[in-house]
Amino acid sequence: MNKDIQNWAKNTQKRIMDKLSITAEQIGPGRPHASKDGIYDNADINWWTNGFWPGILWHAYRATKDEKFKNIAEKCEQNLDEVLSGYVHTDHDAGFLWSLSAVANYKLTGNEKSRVRGLIAANYLAGRFNLRGGFIRAWNWQKGWAIIDCMMNLPLLYWASDAVDDPRYRYVAMAHADTVLREFFRGDGSVNHIVEFDIHTGEVTSIPQGQGYSPSSAWARGTAWAIYGMALSYMYTKEIRYLDAAKRVAHFFISNMPEDYVAYWDFRVPVDENTPKDSSAAACAASGLLEISRFVQEGEKELYLGNALKILKSLTENYAVFDSSKQEILRAGTAHVPQNQNINVGLIYGDYFYVEAIEKLCGNSALFW
Ligand code: GLY
Repeated sequence: MNKDIQNWAKNTQKRIMDKLSITAEQIGPGRPHASKDGIYDNADINWWTNGFWPGILWHAYRATKDEKFKNIAEKCEQNLDEVLSGYVHTDHDAGFLWSLSAVANYKLTGNEKSRVRGLIAANYLAGRFNLRGGFIRAWNWQKGWAIIDCMMNLPLLYWASDAVDDPRYRYVAMAHADTVLREFFRGDGSVNHIVEFDIHTGEVTSIPQGQGYSPSSAWARGTAWAIYGMALSYMYTKEIRYLDAAKRVAHFFISNMPEDYVAYWDFRVPVDENTPKDSSAAACAASGLLEISRFVQEGEKELYLGNALKILKSLTENYAVFDSSKQEILRAGTAHVPQNQNINVGLIYGDYFYVEAIEKLCGNSALFW
């Protein structure tokens, strides 16, 4: 990476860490999710986003060695024990919750309690596998639904296989990833958000709309989940079909980006001056593109690295909020348009992927996933 990029990334990292030093004390071991006027709410303890704040704090701890970040991240992780032992509210988002809290802690500190939390969560996740359909069941209110977001939960399974030296979890993850390749990927590189399976025969029964504009549209964050999730499946398995898939969906994302490289909430929504962007999709895609750039040949790297940088520079110049009187790091995230929820706000997962991507550019490329 050239010196200019490194200097830019270091400067951006400093702005982020200076802000986090203040907001970490304000938010403490809370559960920031979506912002209102730049200040975060406190999500329900079972909500899928509660790993992102400890994940950000672990990045801050690794970058600064300031114990304050570690102490708050550990408290967030302990608070999630209520969810882990309560069991009934756990779902496929075990990966989002415990990869970025417990697994991150274990990877950075060797904490044995954290390793066990990660392993318990991996067992819950593997237990959601439907053998007939070859998919991990998403939520608890539908038995036959699999969703593209789950690609980001698979790393917990790959990690668990390595942690206990037993391929069972890895095979579950690969079976799910192969089902996604078969049933979610479309010819143009875009993906379905949800696929419904018959829970006894495994046949596909419907393609529900989910969080996109329509069942056949291309929800921006789902597209980003597919880019990064397939890249991570490749990272753990070295199976080239996953890297090829990550590249295919990345090409769709890149070739449909608007002028400022920050995607509208769906690639197929009719756009006017009021159409919301989704900075979280842009940040997740950028971090996924950086991952792909690590795995491709020299001549291909520039496509992925260059586009990741275009997104990250635009986010930094046009969407990042470094002023510490606000808690959000990225504005203009969009959570759920069909349900009219959290549109054009700060979203903790957008912040997470932005921080993670800048950390990668600063050389902190070992992942918590
Ligand atoms: N995983 C839920 C979402 O992306 O909104």
